[in-house]
Amino acid sequence: MSKRKQPTVFLTGATGAIGSRILEHYLLHGSEVLVVARERDGLSAEDRIQALLEEAELPRNLRRKVAVLEGSITEPRFGFSRAEYGRVVKAAEIFIHSAAVTNLGASAEECERANFLGTENALEFAHVCRREGQLSRFAYLSSYAASGTAHSGYFPEDSLPTKPNFANEYERTKYLAETRVREEMRGSLPVVIFRPSVTVGDTKTGRIASFNLFYQVVRILGCGMLSHWPDLRGRKVNIVPVDFVARAIYRGLEVAWALGRTFHLVSRNGCLLRDLFDLVKVFPHMRIPRLVPLAHWSLSLLSQKEQMIHRMLEPYLLPYLNDLRLETRNAERLLTLPDISPTFLRRLMEYAARAGYLPAEVFRPADALP
Ligand SMILES: NC(=O)c1ccc[n+]([C@@H]2O[C@H](COP(=O)([O-])OP(=O)(O)OC[C@H]3O[C@@H](n4cnc5c(N)ncnc54)[C@H](OP(=O)(O)O)[C@@H]3O)[C@@H](O)[C@H]2O)c1
Repeated sequence: MSKRKQPTVFLTGATGAIGSRILEHYLLHGSEVLVVARERDGLSAEDRIQALLEEAELPRNLRRKVAVLEGSITEPRFGFSRAEYGRVVKAAEIFIHSAAVTNLGASAEECERANFLGTENALEFAHVCRREGQLSRFAYLSSYAASGTAHSGYFPEDSLPTKPNFANEYERTKYLAETRVREEMRGSLPVVIFRPSVTVGDTKTGRIASFNLFYQVVRILGCGMLSHWPDLRGRKVNIVPVDFVARAIYRGLEVAWALGRTFHLVSRNGCLLRDLFDLVKVFPHMRIPRLVPLAHWSLSLLSQKEQMIHRMLEPYLLPYLNDLRLETRNAERLLTLPDISPTFLRRLMEYAARAGYLPAEVFRPADALP
C-alpha cells in the first residue's frame, strides 16, 4: 500500500464489473471510499458490497474502509438523507461516476433514466462537492461505443462525432450523457473522461464480477446454439482486461496533465473472431457453428429456433465488428496498452466456467481431460 495520503473517493456503480474493480483498486491503495449502492434479491447494499470484496479476497481492515450509502442515481441527491448527502459533499476528493444501465437490449426509457438523468444528477452533486467541499476530480465512465458503433470510422479521444450512428439505446444515451459531461468539462468542473472497450476479466486470473456481452457471445457461439454462422473470422472486437481499466482510471486521476482529457481504455490488438473459434483447440467439447462464406450466408441455413437466437445475437455483436479505429494517444501516454493473447482468452473461459457462467463440461481444457 502507498504511504502518501490517498484521496477519499465517492463512487457510483460499485457493484458493477468495472465499478467493483475501481473500488478494490482504491481500497488497496489506502483510500477511503464512499459508494452509492442498491439492495437487490433480499441483500442489502452493504451486504452486496461486502460480498464482492470478500470474493476479491480483500483483507478485512481494507474492507472496513468502504462506507456504503443506499440510494439511486436516478433520484435527486441520489435519494440520500441530509446527513448522508452532507457527508459525501464534505469528504469527496474524487467523484467517479461509473453507474449505468449497460444492457444493450434495454429500452430507451430505462437508458435515458439511468444513463442521461443519472449523469445529470451526478454532475449536479459534483458541483456541490466542488463548491462546498474539496472535490479535485470528477471522472466519468463513458464508452468507446458512445461514438456510435453502427458505422466504421476513426474515433478521436478528445471529441465525439457530430453525426454518430448508434446501434442501440445504450450507445445513444451514453453519447448524450458524455456530451453533457463535455459541456461541464469546458466549465468549472475538473473532469476526466474514460472510454473503455468491451471489458473482460483480470489479466492474471480472469476474475470479473459480472459477465457481459463478450461472454454472452462466447456462450452462444461455443455451446452449439447455432449450426451455421457467417465466416467473420477476420473481424475484430476490442476487449480489454478489467484490471487495466481500473489501473488506468487510478493513474488518470493522479496525473495533472490528464485533466480535461478523454482516454480510450482499450487493448492494443483487440480480439479476432478467429481467436475465439480457435479456442476449440483448447476446449475440444466446444460446439462452434459451421462457418459459411459471406457470399453464401443466408438466415435460411438456420432452424426457426436458431434464427431467433441469431436475431438476439446480431444487434449485440455485429456493430462491434465494424472497423472502428480508435485514437489511443492519450491512453498510451498514461499506460502501456495491454495485448490480448490466446492464453489470456483461455484464462477468461476457465474463470467463467469455474464461476458457473459457461458450462464447465464444455469449457474443459484438453490438457485437463483424463
Ligand atoms: N463493462 C463494459 O464492457 C463497459 C465498456 C465500456 C464502458 N462501460 C461503462 O463503464 C461503466 C461501468 O460499467 P460496468 O461494467 O461496471 O457496468 P455493470 O456491470 O453493468 O454495472 C452497472 C452498475 O451501475 C449500477 N446502477 C445502474 N443503475 C443504477 C441506479 N439507478 N442507481 C444506482 N446504481 C445503478 C448497477 O447497480 P446494481 O448492481 O444495483 O444494478 C451497477 O453497480 C458504465 O458507465 C458503462 O457504461 C462498460
